[in-house]
Amino acid sequence: MKIIAGPASQLLASRVAQQLGIQPTICEYKQFPDGEYYTRILDDGIDDVTIIQSTPQDSDLIALLQLIDACENAPKINVVIPYMGYARQDKVFKAGEPVSARAIARTINADRVFTVNIHEKTVLEHFNADSFDLDASHLFGNYIRSLNLKDPLIISPDAGALELAKSASSDVGIPYDYFEKTRHSGDSVTIKDKEIDVVGKEVIILDDMIATGGTMAESIRMLKEQGAAEVYVACVHPVLARNAVVRLYNAGVTEIISSDTLEKAQSKITVAPLIADAIKEL
Ligand code: R5P
Repeated sequence: MKIIAGPASQLLASRVAQQLGIQPTICEYKQFPDGEYYTRILDDGIDDVTIIQSTPQDSDLIALLQLIDACENAPKINVVIPYMGYARQDKVFKAGEPVSARAIARTINADRVFTVNIHEKTVLEHFNADSFDLDASHLFGNYIRSLNLKDPLIISPDAGALELAKSASSDVGIPYDYFEKTRHSGDSVTIKDKEIDVVGKEVIILDDMIATGGTMAESIRMLKEQGAAEVYVACVHPVLARNAVVRLYNAGVTEIISSDTLEKAQSKITVAPLIADAIKEL
């Protein structure tokens, strides 16, 4: 089995390979003067391959498609997309829109596809491959326990992340609750007023992703008003677009915690064991 580390997942793929006791295959990535991308796998052995590449930017999807194509002669191609861009456009919200997640899934030509806490599991149905979503919730539960908080409470900022919060909390016996959110635009949301007993507690708001930080900033504000002692935010996918980090600190966050599906300074939890275990089971 060869492990191929896409340009957006170099650290995660290296961690997965380390857990499997192999070295990732070296690849060459460069850009032509006209902006097009060049990709080359520097190993022409014919083996099963696992390509690990998140796709936060459109150029990352191009790299993934190029890597898959370069592996055309491999007996089996496994593709791990730890964070899949466009997964939130999983249906037609307004007439005339594409289901972008479907459009992208249809471009992936592989035997198996793995994602990690994908925004909506129905997206998996659009891959022309056996597809699996890996769940990082217990890794978050363990990390939260390791913080040794005195009186913690896990909260999901909307109904969509409730399962994640429930699962992370049940692993470590920490109570959980949830808010109800309405989105008005890409970076504007309102959270319905809900009285939760948070006075003096350390609250961890857990969501699948933080993009603009709007959801988390609004939740932090509400929790602080209600008397929470400290508010941590945690997410699987730290998209952290534009000034999201500053927005969260301005709102009073104690710490931002995320996994390494996207490699950021906040990526304190690695999903490598999840991926390595899934590969071992093949
Ligand atoms: C949406 O349903 C997701 O679970 C996240 O809550 C959302 O993507 C976060 O976006 P933002 O950080 O821009 O509020």
